[in-house]
Amino acid sequence: MTHGRRLRLNAFLKPPGEFLAAWRHPGAVPDAGVNIRHLIELARTAERACFDALFFADLVGVPFADQEVLRRVSVVNDSFEPTTLLAALATATSRIGLIATASTTYNEPYHLARTFASLDHLSRGRAGWNLVTSLNDAEARNFGLPEHVGHAERYRRAAEFHQVVTGLWDSFDDDAFRRDQASGIYFDDDRVHRLDHRGRYFSVTGPLNIPRPPQGHPVVVQAGSSEAGKSLAAAAADVVFTHHPDGAAARAFYAEIKARAAAAGRNPEHVLVLPALSTIVGRTLAEAEDKAERLYALLDPRVALADLAYWLGGVDLSTHPLDGPLPQLPVSNQSRSAQRLIVERARARNLTIRELARGLARDERTIVGTPETVADHIQEWFETQAADGFNVIFPYLPETLDDFADLVIPQLRRRGLFRASYEGRTLRENLGLPRPASRYARDRRGA
Ligand SMILES: Cc1cc2nc3c(=O)[nH]c(=O)nc-3n(C[C@H](O)[C@H](O)[C@H](O)COP(=O)(O)O)c2cc1C
Repeated sequence: MTHGRRLRLNAFLKPPGEFLAAWRHPGAVPDAGVNIRHLIELARTAERACFDALFFADLVGVPFADQEVLRRVSVVNDSFEPTTLLAALATATSRIGLIATASTTYNEPYHLARTFASLDHLSRGRAGWNLVTSLNDAEARNFGLPEHVGHAERYRRAAEFHQVVTGLWDSFDDDAFRRDQASGIYFDDDRVHRLDHRGRYFSVTGPLNIPRPPQGHPVVVQAGSSEAGKSLAAAAADVVFTHHPDGAAARAFYAEIKARAAAAGRNPEHVLVLPALSTIVGRTLAEAEDKAERLYALLDPRVALADLAYWLGGVDLSTHPLDGPLPQLPVSNQSRSAQRLIVERARARNLTIRELARGLARDERTIVGTPETVADHIQEWFETQAADGFNVIFPYLPETLDDFADLVIPQLRRRGLFRASYEGRTLRENLGLPRPASRYARDRRGA
């Protein structure tokens, strides 16, 4: 094990659960996505377990066009906007990090710089931004565009967007605000900086109208694994969320991200790679399998098929026989890495469309097993440099979070792998990430 390397765990909360039929589970809170009392309970459970952070995904539209599908799913229709939600959760928690997804394709950088700076102040240094480029045409149509912006274009815009946001966060030096009632001087004018950014996509004068965030820069997460996604991660991300079918693929990705970060002049230890891990845990294997079977039986086949078509890039599968193989597909303009994962799985196992749709519910990321099996997996991936930790996905809530907290976390602690209390106050401190200096600090030292 590398000296000082610690296991990181992020709780990917998608109430009532990642599984599309989770809201039908007998233990579910059916309105979980908009039930603040329930969301606070989930956040507190994750904080008691000492997860590094909570994370909420987001879309700026409703992806399924077919009403027969749409009316059977909860998450895409029925959840809070994540930064608003995290502002509320910031007041109900004290140590856990708070990561929200926000799109660089359908926002302006000034807005997001301000939102995440506010969240960082509200939470006293616990904010994180999952920087995404958005996924689908339904989102584009809410922003005056007939279809989603092209993949390469989205990532070019994202890179410039990130530069503008981090530049705006540095608008005021950390010690700029004197608020001196006696002299009448509110801030030192040599401690404020105008960005004056003029680029291909953005023209932003600045400064930002809020003090520098407690973390300097809120933690930046990146979750695309295409070529362009990896370049952006190496240049800009503190944390990378990713998906891999097996340990070998995860190790290759891990090594690549660390090498790319080093090539970009960064310390590779400061870019944390967190693959997805979804678990259904029982005290025995039979109990876990029983829980899984009961859950999977709740999924309507129409929803399963629509979900498969969506993750393949929004393709139409209806003209292809369900008991035949996947057709040749155009390259996805949504998530290239998601499409590749599914196509590779279909090929490797010779799966029909029907089998594949069913299998999405129970793919390689979901471990159905005992706390020991889950801890073994975590330990192996962590110790063989496949992961710095995991983005833990909960198929249905609250039970799979409770099980992880009550059964898996104690296993990890017994093995000396995971903390029993938070080391720091801010998300950066808990993740072992340094607080970035302001881009203007060097100028001042030189002056
Ligand atoms: C764990 C995880 C969570 C993600 N959450 C979101 C999300 O909430 N909203 C979104 O628009 N994209 C989300 N994505 C998609 C990616 O951010 C990325 O935009 C997408 O995978 C396309 O990039 P790629 O072609 O580089 O893979 C997520 C991806 C992963 C792996």
